[in-house]
Amino acid sequence: MTQRVYLVLLLLCLSLMCPLATGIFMDKLSSKKLCADDDCVYTISLARAEEDYNASDCRFINIRKGQLIYVYSKLVKEKDSGEFWAGSVYGEQYEDHMGTVGYFPSSLVSEQHIYQEANKTVPTTDIDFFCE
Ligand SMILES: *[C@@H]1O[C@H](CO)[C@@H](O)[C@H](O)[C@H]1NC(C)=O
Ligand SMILES: *[C@@H]1O[C@H](CO)[C@@H](O)[C@H](O)[C@H]1NC(C)=O
Repeated sequence: MTQRVYLVLLLLCLSLMCPLATGIFMDKLSSKKLCADDDCVYTISLARAEEDYNASDCRFINIRKGQLIYVYSKLVKEKDSGEFWAGSVYGEQYEDHMGTVGYFPSSLVSEQHIYQEANKTVPTTDIDFFCE
């Protein structure tokens, strides 16, 4: 059993996930997402928060009413879960080099400007729900 876990860790390291070893993989919120391109590289839209939102765990980001948010992907709604989009708050990347990307309920924001139509369906991966 222990050897098995060790082997899995080794394989994860070989696939270049070692730098992420201090984080945690959370449950997936959805198995599919919509992106502007196959690699989910392009920003889909700029949205404005209509209400405050307090993140319930590390997969989510806090948003405050009036903030602008870059939208990077849109999770495909499954079963009775809410609809969540991934994004980061505009401007915060200057305070934190990486910028914080996380999920928020799409119902609390309104899109101001669409850069690219999110018309590519892509499977989500464990990394999409990884927390540092
Ligand atoms: C978020 O948390 C703050 C501080 O705990 C609280 O005052 C506020 O009402 C919460 N907002 C929402 C939308 O839950
Ligand atoms: C997706 O949207 C882009 C515009 O953002 C468009 O050029 C492309 O044809 C669309 N693709 C499909 C399959 O609808």
